[in-house]
Amino acid sequence: MSLSDFQEIRDMVQKFAEAEVAPLAHDIDKNQQIPAELIAKLGENGLLGSYIPEEYGGAGMDYTSYSLIVEELSKACASTGVLVSAHTSLCVWPILAFGTEEQKKKYLPRLASGEHIGCFALSEPGAGSDAGSLTTFAEDKGDHYEITGMKNWITNGREADIAIVFAKTTKTPNYKGISAFIVETATEGYSIVKIEDKLGIKGSSTAQLAFDSVKVPKENLLGDYEKGFRVAMATLDGGRIGIASQALGIARAAFEYARKYTTERIQFGAPLSNLQGVQFMLADMSTKIAASKLLIYEASRLKDEKKNYTKESAHAKLFAAEASMWIATKAVQLCGGNGYTKEYPVERYFRDAKITEIYEGTSEVQRIVIAANEIKEVQ
Ligand code: CAA
Repeated sequence: MSLSDFQEIRDMVQKFAEAEVAPLAHDIDKNQQIPAELIAKLGENGLLGSYIPEEYGGAGMDYTSYSLIVEELSKACASTGVLVSAHTSLCVWPILAFGTEEQKKKYLPRLASGEHIGCFALSEPGAGSDAGSLTTFAEDKGDHYEITGMKNWITNGREADIAIVFAKTTKTPNYKGISAFIVETATEGYSIVKIEDKLGIKGSSTAQLAFDSVKVPKENLLGDYEKGFRVAMATLDGGRIGIASQALGIARAAFEYARKYTTERIQFGAPLSNLQGVQFMLADMSTKIAASKLLIYEASRLKDEKKNYTKESAHAKLFAAEASMWIATKAVQLCGGNGYTKEYPVERYFRDAKITEIYEGTSEVQRIVIAANEIKEVQ
């Protein structure tokens, strides 16, 4: 794809986000829910199936285009951005990458249209950063498996019709023995225990899920038997680009708001932007945004070219998330007392930015991944 193709996609999403998403963002945050009509519109406009090939009902775009979509949606509303990100990177992608032809034909068209929303169920009460220590168990019952256990912090948990679920098929203390499954959430024994009340991304549902002998047909094993941890790790490599894009979208929104505010707010007889201290803050915000873009687009390019991008996606997630939190903090500071109130959106950007340093691998996990890959290169 050419640069003008990317610009065209960005313009299209920007237009959609400004007209359909941004006006709802305040209420989405306040009501802790993304309206079903907005999710339907995301589907109608191809934004839930951007990365799905046309043969399965999607728009057949590449990962770079998908990253731009998440960035622009997140600039308007970070909750809406992550709904699309978790759906695409964490549910669509593993089916595309590891699914059988039957699984792709069965699930991808519904996920492309938005008829079905996807989620990714890896984390558990006792298995967060140490994902390999999960204890949810899938018992082999001959023609099907029965999954029993708990899953925590599941983005899209309230909306999801399809969940990519990780469970042990052999009881081991580490990642060995984990298999991945496609689970339809309407199956008996699957339930939502609670929806978390969070600091930010309040419109995005974060659920605790219970699995009580949930029957899963044998053909819903995703990828090779007991190679599920690799499915999870490879999926998160791509997911981290999505979250980096979300962080960038929030950062751009915070920066643009604060920049405008400083040119309009008069103190000591002149706009705040006349003060060099303020200009230096704006310059640092702008530079961090530019650097985040380069890291994200580079990781996306490597993924599109089917090269290894584990380290680069961790670079992008680590840097963009920390930059986003820093920029949102400065944006509140630049808007002063106004910025601390709910009348101004920078307060929401500040709360939304924090999660990008936590989910799909904390900043500390990204540093583990980067260091491990750097060391591997000289061994
Ligand atoms: N791609 C494919 N395979 C990979 C891989 C990758 N990027 N990274 C590791 N693996 C494979 C390894 O090759 C190894 O497999 P083999 O033994 O078969 O060769 C296996 O995975 C174990 O690798 P490690 O020894 O490196 O694994 P570890 O147990 O030390 O874990 C870790 C390393 C990086 C800390 C990992 O556990 C991790 O990423 N933790 C964070 C989990 C995470 O991001 N959770 C977020 C969940 S999603 C979420 O936030 C909620 C949501 O809904 C958005």
